[in-house]
Amino acid sequence: MLRFGTQSINDKGHLTIGGCDSLDLAAAFGTPLYVLDEALVRENCRSYRRAFGERYPEVEVAFAGKALLCQAVCAIMQQEGMLLDVASRGELHTALTAGFPLERIHLHGNCKTEVDLDFALDSGVHRVVVDSLPELRLLSELASRRGIAADIQIRVGPGVKTQTHTFIQTGQDDSKFGLGIASGAALEAAKLAADSDSIRLCGIHAHIGSQLFGLDSYRRAVEVMMEFAARVAAVNGGLEEVNLGGGLGIQYTHEDAPPTIDELAEVIASAMKAEAERLGLALPRLMLEPGRSIVGPAGTTLYRVIVVKELPGVRTYVSVDGGLSDNPRPCMYGAEYEAVIANKADQKPEMTVRVSGAHCETDTLIPEATIQHAEPGDVLAVFATGAYNYAMASNYNRFCRPAMVTVYDGRAEIIIEREQLDDLIRQDRVPERLRQGG
Ligand code: LLP
Repeated sequence: MLRFGTQSINDKGHLTIGGCDSLDLAAAFGTPLYVLDEALVRENCRSYRRAFGERYPEVEVAFAGKALLCQAVCAIMQQEGMLLDVASRGELHTALTAGFPLERIHLHGNCKTEVDLDFALDSGVHRVVVDSLPELRLLSELASRRGIAADIQIRVGPGVKTQTHTFIQTGQDDSKFGLGIASGAALEAAKLAADSDSIRLCGIHAHIGSQLFGLDSYRRAVEVMMEFAARVAAVNGGLEEVNLGGGLGIQYTHEDAPPTIDELAEVIASAMKAEAERLGLALPRLMLEPGRSIVGPAGTTLYRVIVVKELPGVRTYVSVDGGLSDNPRPCMYGAEYEAVIANKADQKPEMTVRVSGAHCETDTLIPEATIQHAEPGDVLAVFATGAYNYAMASNYNRFCRPAMVTVYDGRAEIIIEREQLDDLIRQDRVPERLRQGG
């Protein structure tokens, strides 16, 4: 069985997380349930800050909120001294209402509207990460109307190809994200920004992809970014910061062997220093935006096994009370997970089954899971669901989205309430015309 963070097995043979028995969690809070190992989240934040801080003079690590955001997560990130990267007004609103300091928030998005930019300028975020020339012109105009200068980074496409699912490759030239270096668009944006009184060009930004295992892509990204930084510095009279985005992969299955945070830090910090020296550039502030590698391994989803269907000579289907609506990743990206029967965690896995969800869809969660003998009523724990699960959850089939609890030192606390049936109809309206009984 895979083990993450504080996971263990107690004397009842049950999986425990954060000192809490997962069977008690399922009974107290219901299923499906997202369980977040707070100690592991904190440890991952600290590892990033330590690993990079030890190797590079000035570093800021932002948590990429798109991986998992709610007010309690904002609070944890604030306590851990992280910056926060938000990708929408919704994420920004979450951070603001959680009291996350504005001067530590970056606003992302490839398609920000005037309303988004107004909101960003009015709230006074630390950086707007500009993704296109029209956005840059609009931001400059909006800031100028307010008589202020907006602090920005320019998101560039570094033209670095990565080995990951095509949906989450973002560094290549053919991408909707950022301004291409190769096409000249990125330099044009830098010149425009340098010439504008209402824009302060603080840095350049790249995010080359997600769930990456190859450190070479990062080395290449640093080379490209530092070369570009030198060109931008020439037109901008210097450049304070280089932001390398997120992307470090995590272990979902026994086959996955991602690099450690220290290995990532070693490659990036040494490449940054070598490039700065080669180009005669002052070392810029280094920024990072990990999401998955902070929260992914810290999440476990608990489901109740509802139906076990043996199809003789074919396979056994184990259907659980969630699926596509709480974790669309297997359907979207063919993402792989491993699981354990939480109430039999001390027993040897003995059957290979297909774990399916409860939706009107072939929502396979795990095509071939080798697990303990599964029976209706068991609790199935799926590992490494902390990133892009709750964040991508939906109400498909009008399922209620699950609750989330943090577990820490034997205490479990709700951080996201389970949606109730009435939440599903809260926005529904029936025009008078349709009420008359047809
Ligand atoms: N910064 C930027 C600008 C990003 O676009 C992303 C992720 C990150 C940072 C954080 O990347 P991470 O460290 O989490 O890899 N829904 C997909 C992942 C989409 C990633 C989008 N951008 C999935 O479930 O695999």
